[in-house]
Amino acid sequence: MAAIHPPENPAQAFRFVDHRLIYLGFVHTCNEKEMVADRIGHEFHLINPRLQARALRMFDAGVGDGSVLTQVMESAHDRFPFVPHYVVGKEISIEDVRLTLPKMADRFVEHPLTVLTLTNMAYADAPWLALQKAGPDISWMEFAIRGDTAHQIKSQLRELEPFLTENWKTRVSPVTGNPVYERPAVVVIYREDRHFPLSSIIPAQSKADANYDLVIASQPYQARGKLEFKAKRVIAPLARALGSGGRLIGIHSQGGDPAEEIVRAIWPEQKSFIHSGLDIIDAVKHELTAHDAHAPGFTFDVDSEPLRYKLRPLSAEGGSIGTSGVNAAWIAATYVAQIEDQRMRETTSNDNYLEITRDVLARHGGQLSFNDAVYTIARAGL
Ligand SMILES: C[S@@+](CC[C@H](N)C(=O)[O-])C[C@H]1O[C@@H](n2cnc3c(N)ncnc32)[C@H](O)[C@@H]1O
Repeated sequence: MAAIHPPENPAQAFRFVDHRLIYLGFVHTCNEKEMVADRIGHEFHLINPRLQARALRMFDAGVGDGSVLTQVMESAHDRFPFVPHYVVGKEISIEDVRLTLPKMADRFVEHPLTVLTLTNMAYADAPWLALQKAGPDISWMEFAIRGDTAHQIKSQLRELEPFLTENWKTRVSPVTGNPVYERPAVVVIYREDRHFPLSSIIPAQSKADANYDLVIASQPYQARGKLEFKAKRVIAPLARALGSGGRLIGIHSQGGDPAEEIVRAIWPEQKSFIHSGLDIIDAVKHELTAHDAHAPGFTFDVDSEPLRYKLRPLSAEGGSIGTSGVNAAWIAATYVAQIEDQRMRETTSNDNYLEITRDVLARHGGQLSFNDAVYTIARAGL
């Protein structure tokens, strides 16, 4: 997405440049998404799908390339193989939707009782598949897949391309610099041969419910965004979308790890990770009680240990830490710390940054690890 206005704050500066390739590089060189999905999977031991909901209901507040959601759906199948799964994913980027859909083909094979809905709507609207304030008409499509092999299903999912091209368009908001949709869009996907048992949970326009058993908020905001924004605009609306007994799990980069050592060795003043899990929880608590004294009880928790993930080992070149490993470490560390493009360009004009990265890696036995903060919000069961 091209920049059209100078950014007002560092978080926006990071947003302005196209970090898509770096995001994809990061997803494949680090094991974060797998660790995140495993951690989320533990929540299923604390969740009991409700009979009256007729499904396990899950919401992903930012699908990205689909790595986390598909792996969470795998563990949901493992835990609840015979329960219908109602899954809604919010994702504004058409490129990410394109990367996610093929990953879903085998989910429909292993768990045929799946209704998957993707939408480009904002946090306050997406869980309900409806606009809270009046807005443009929603482009709504129901897509019943024929066939029962991954090959057949994947081929049909490709037929969604014209709908996506037409309806998943974005522009850059002149106010925030962030991408916003041109019009709200929803696509509801299920297997035609399972229409009968799924019919009571297939969402219909203006009639969809939130009531989630699980809300996934993995890296849902920019690290240096304002606390009020993170709590009020992102996490509190998601907590309100929980059904009774439902659980929200939030995960964000926390720093205090060897990856941050690289960043601080180059920019000693850099403070990328300004809010802890506890900061978010305190602000969300305040938000939920300030605006809704009758809100059903929520309980809040922060994992005592950060989720530790690492750069996958890259083949050593000549027995030492190879150039590709050093580059991958540099890219992952600066990506997670959300360093603005301009500062990256200034620093990479000579090779010092590679020496510094190599030194940090050598101090840690050639490994690079990262910390994520994890918190949960549970809504009381009835
Ligand atoms: C909605 S979010 C996350 C998508 C998905 N939930 C995931 O975890 O990959 C999308 C943005 O989060 C950022 N992001 C993803 N993983 C990150 C990480 N480990 N640390 C910091 N930012 C990250 C990227 O900028 C990406 O464009």
